[in-house]
Amino acid sequence: MTDEQFLFPAGFLWGVAGAAHQIEGGNSNSDCWLLEHIPGAPFAEPSGDACDHYHRYPDDIALISSLGFNTYRFSIEWARIEPEEGEFSHAALEHYRRMLITCHEHNLTPIVTYHHFTSPRWFAAKGGWEISANAEYFARYCERATAALGDLIGAGCTLNEPNVGLLIQEGGHMPSDDEIVKAPFRVAAAKAVGSDTFSAFPACCRHRDARDTFLKAHRLAFDVIKAGPGDFPVGMTLAMADRQALPGSEDVRDRARHEIDDVFLDVARDDDYIGVQTYTRSRYGAEGPLPPEEGVERTQMGYEFWPEALEATIRYAADYTGLPVIVTENGIGTQDDMRRIEYVRRALQGVQRCLSDGIAVRGYCYWSVFDNFEWGFGYRPQFGLIAVDRITQTRTLKPSAEWLGRVARTNTL
Ligand code: BGC
Repeated sequence: MTDEQFLFPAGFLWGVAGAAHQIEGGNSNSDCWLLEHIPGAPFAEPSGDACDHYHRYPDDIALISSLGFNTYRFSIEWARIEPEEGEFSHAALEHYRRMLITCHEHNLTPIVTYHHFTSPRWFAAKGGWEISANAEYFARYCERATAALGDLIGAGCTLNEPNVGLLIQEGGHMPSDDEIVKAPFRVAAAKAVGSDTFSAFPACCRHRDARDTFLKAHRLAFDVIKAGPGDFPVGMTLAMADRQALPGSEDVRDRARHEIDDVFLDVARDDDYIGVQTYTRSRYGAEGPLPPEEGVERTQMGYEFWPEALEATIRYAADYTGLPVIVTENGIGTQDDMRRIEYVRRALQGVQRCLSDGIAVRGYCYWSVFDNFEWGFGYRPQFGLIAVDRITQTRTLKPSAEWLGRVARTNTL
């Protein structure tokens, strides 16, 4: 059988992914919005209107479906659903119910992420994820959201990439835990919310402390979501890299992997699936992580063009946990849409090899549906299958959207 004829399993989830803060626009009650407006905080520009998906979701969802996809992964926004501690917004929940109904009307399985980095300001003012007891707030929010939405959810992700801060810190692209406590923008943010602390994930967070809270929050959330209406698989998603060691440096690599991935994978073992998200590889030498080699192709994010990371991380996560895998994110920030197609083609060839070896890969969600707010980088990186005019909000399909839509429709590569 040639690669061109490879048929993916019946019912394979073919999706696109997005996250509330990055596409909805006007998420002004969130910790991230506040930080975006604090001088010195690490944001190239504020998120502003983003893709105005909060208002344009009916057309956007119809467009996703018309391309050939059968799945849409999006996040619901805690800062909208619980704008003040213990105060839940029925209007916000109704909004997300309408979004879910719209997905079903267009034959899209909705994968709902309960937390994709952003939290309400009040939560950040209580120390956010750095404080173990705060896990209970997250569980209460998940319980309320599931009570309102659970009957319509196709699959649930509690937390998006709770390990991403550790991953970025490892590469030296984020202040250390010690530095962050003293960062002037953190002090200013705390002042702005009338607190003596402010912890916002991932840009302004002590990640070692947050890790324990996340692990606890995930288990609490998993239980309340499973106890609510609906009967759908629940898991978490992790930021994974294809971790490669130079000969003799395997123990350096394994130690890093233990701290950043395995402690989460251990806790995920009791879930229904594991969400794999990957973009590149990390190489390790005797001293630790190494930068990409001279001359290798890099994406707009600065890291190496390495689509083979997907096969490696699926194999690792499946082998470690014994769980089915959903690729909840994979993609590339590039101006050159032909490189995007090449990246995804090679990544999907890796998925094929995993499937051929009997690994239970249930679906693939491309990140991202739109060119969107790429956190600290602002709107410069172009991850989208669909371009968005920043003023008119006009959506323009890229060739990759049609290409991946055809792969999805025909279930073949
Ligand atoms: C995150 C997304 C982000 C993407 C591309 C993932 O770490 O879940 O929010 O936009 O990678 O960098």
